[in-house]
Amino acid sequence: MTSPTSFCSPVVAGLVPYVPGEQPAIANLIKLNTNENPYPPSPKALAAIRSAAEQGLQLYPDPESSALRRSMAGRHGLEPAQVFVGNGSDEVLAHAFFAFFQQPGCPLMLPDISYSFYEVYCGLYGIPMDIVPLADGLALDVYAFARDASAPVAGVVVANPNAPTGRAISLAEVEVLLRLHPQRVVLVDEAYVDFGAESALALVPRYPNLLVVQTLSKSRSLAGLRVGFACGQAPPDRRAEPGEEQLQLLPAGPPGPGRGPGRTGGRSLFRDHPPSRHPHPGRPGAAAGRPGFRGAALADQFPVCAPPWA
Ligand SMILES: Cc1ncc(COP(=O)(O)O)c(C=O)c1O
Repeated sequence: MTSPTSFCSPVVAGLVPYVPGEQPAIANLIKLNTNENPYPPSPKALAAIRSAAEQGLQLYPDPESSALRRSMAGRHGLEPAQVFVGNGSDEVLAHAFFAFFQQPGCPLMLPDISYSFYEVYCGLYGIPMDIVPLADGLALDVYAFARDASAPVAGVVVANPNAPTGRAISLAEVEVLLRLHPQRVVLVDEAYVDFGAESALALVPRYPNLLVVQTLSKSRSLAGLRVGFACGQAPPDRRAEPGEEQLQLLPAGPPGPGRGPGRTGGRSLFRDHPPSRHPHPGRPGAAAGRPGFRGAALADQFPVCAPPWA
């Protein structure tokens, strides 16, 4: 009898799947294995989600996530055309790897220890890897990403702060990466940026090769909503097209659960989150000192403190 796996393409048959962290069905468990936020989202975010769910789940969501992109762009001084929204940053990363890093014969540069999904996507898209060793104390040495001008490089991906090490690089160091590889995309995955690094979003208008990826899953406590986004300079010829504001470098993703509320309830989901940026991962975040935020416990490599609504 033919085995169902014999129908798979050689690429799929050879894949080593990403194994997501376990989600045990135990009530009141504070989980640390997948770096979810132990605290609930802002009540304003919940109200926006409820209202969006009541108003239009029978309809397909706005395919351009216009409200959310406008809100994100406004917050970061960008144009909506420079923001791309996907079903969690994992999907955004998948599109970015597919769109930018499949460069024949060129390896993608990645830190030796980083988010394990990068390797999975390299396998999926047949992208060879150039694994860059970490420095002492698991720090990311940006100068180790230097290559001869003639060396083939598909691009650079770093998480800042890195996961699971929690070590961050400065904006100046991000700029070193951008200048070392001006002809290729440097993707900075800022899933944990609010816990311990400075965002590179401010650099987007200055560097056409920068793509910053963020998520609502971590500091904003909305992992269940599956909303991630990327910011980069939109190609000039696409910027002005009416009704087509999406960053067209990346294809739009398939519909998914939560997409409607996530994409229409832009303002509250995005603005009302614990501002817990702190330059020292592993120490109490700045949110700990904000009115209403209580205490600071260390969860995995990042500090966590309770928001006023929890
Ligand atoms: C570094 C990093 N990037 C991206 C993600 C994906 O987050 P999401 O798909 O929930 O946006 C994670 C999740 O743990 C992560 O650790």
